[in-house]
Amino acid sequence: MLKAGIVGAGILGGAHAENLRAHPQVELVAVADPRMEAAQRLAGSDVRAYRSVEEMLGAESLDLVVVATPDPFHREPTLAAIAAGVPYIIQEKPLATTLSDALAIYEAVERAGTGFYVNYANRTAPLDIATAYVIRQGLLGPIVYGDVRLDDNISVPTRLWGTRSRDWAGGSSTAHFLLSHVVDLLHWYLYPATVSEVYAIKQQMVLGYTPDLYDAFLTFTNGAQIRVKAEWIRHMDELVEFGMSFSGAQGTLVYNKLPGFGTRTSWRANLSPEVAIDSLLQHQQALRSAGALTRAIVDRGAPGLQRSPGAEELLPVALESLDHGIGKPMALVDHVIDAILEGSNPPHSWGGPGSLPTHVDGLAQTQVVLAIVASAEKHHPVRPDSLA
Ligand SMILES: NC(=O)c1ccc[n+]([C@@H]2O[C@H](COP(=O)([O-])OP(=O)(O)OC[C@H]3O[C@@H](n4cnc5c(N)ncnc54)[C@H](O)[C@@H]3O)[C@@H](O)[C@H]2O)c1
Repeated sequence: MLKAGIVGAGILGGAHAENLRAHPQVELVAVADPRMEAAQRLAGSDVRAYRSVEEMLGAESLDLVVVATPDPFHREPTLAAIAAGVPYIIQEKPLATTLSDALAIYEAVERAGTGFYVNYANRTAPLDIATAYVIRQGLLGPIVYGDVRLDDNISVPTRLWGTRSRDWAGGSSTAHFLLSHVVDLLHWYLYPATVSEVYAIKQQMVLGYTPDLYDAFLTFTNGAQIRVKAEWIRHMDELVEFGMSFSGAQGTLVYNKLPGFGTRTSWRANLSPEVAIDSLLQHQQALRSAGALTRAIVDRGAPGLQRSPGAEELLPVALESLDHGIGKPMALVDHVIDAILEGSNPPHSWGGPGSLPTHVDGLAQTQVVLAIVASAEKHHPVRPDSLA
């Protein structure tokens, strides 16, 4: 049984508590938050509430600490848990909002040998696993271009955290809060390529206390150029909209992940025509094993079918999703707990490519997001590895 404590009794702290309480191999014993009433509310009658991470660590002997404090405040609780000898930490994304915080966390994890994971929750959705699989297997050919947009309703920076919303959003930005997810997904999809250069703009016409949006071109070491955009000024019915597309040299993938404005979730990859039918079926089977149900489409053209001029070459070999779920929000945490209990990353339960994200992925994500912020400030391209 893993004894767990949560730092930060807010929205995500609440989701972690519900998930850990339901886990048969975890016992949630403590919650810490300087807003003591929030800590007590989350703790209920079965869990002990503390006013600070130091008090919690002084009184409890924990196997696992979950850090779910606001974006700029991950360093202090994470370093305190490492210094107290907690063997496993799950930290919310982003790893950090400054390079010095990111490096301090990275170095402390390396020194102590802590089992450290960042909750880049998007990596567990079946259709993201399918996207990573299709790109990493080269089924679109080399990736040439992509565009990803992840937008929040304007209610997020203005109302999501109640009276704390302005301070919360002002201490972060769409770069740290939203593009951290996108950058991590792109590193995972395009592995082993990394971002070599960033050119970004921002707009500051509406909110005032935080940029309205960031829009950036990321150049990867394999030559791919991916545009990533995240807004905090969308007026829409949904809380979040998320969509992406990738153009490979031989195929195209379009993924409407969290749809809005009357559209539906959809995922389709038109693959390289060089993919033979047997291997198409093997890929379909591999995706099924990884939890993504797709149908294989082979359109060789029915005999006698009249195609309009220019459409003769449109003979897709495609995979299309039959599954429109976005996955379970705490799924990555469940895989992390499996990794801890099995002593191996990835654990057996993980069917996706690569392993679960750690401080290494967190540092890479933070460097790219900070390059986006710096480029938009300076109006010129920035290399993530040149940041000091
Ligand atoms: N993985 C995901 O998909 C996902 C989704 C949304 C948010 N997040 C991340 O989760 C984190 C928390 O976001 P939230 O929306 O729950 O914020 P929140 O403000 O609702 O909760 C944070 C809590 O931390 C407390 N806190 C602040 N400083 C503290 C400290 N030093 N020690 C202990 N507690 C402290 C605050 O009082 C608050 O109760 C953020 O980093 C956010 O980006 C992750």
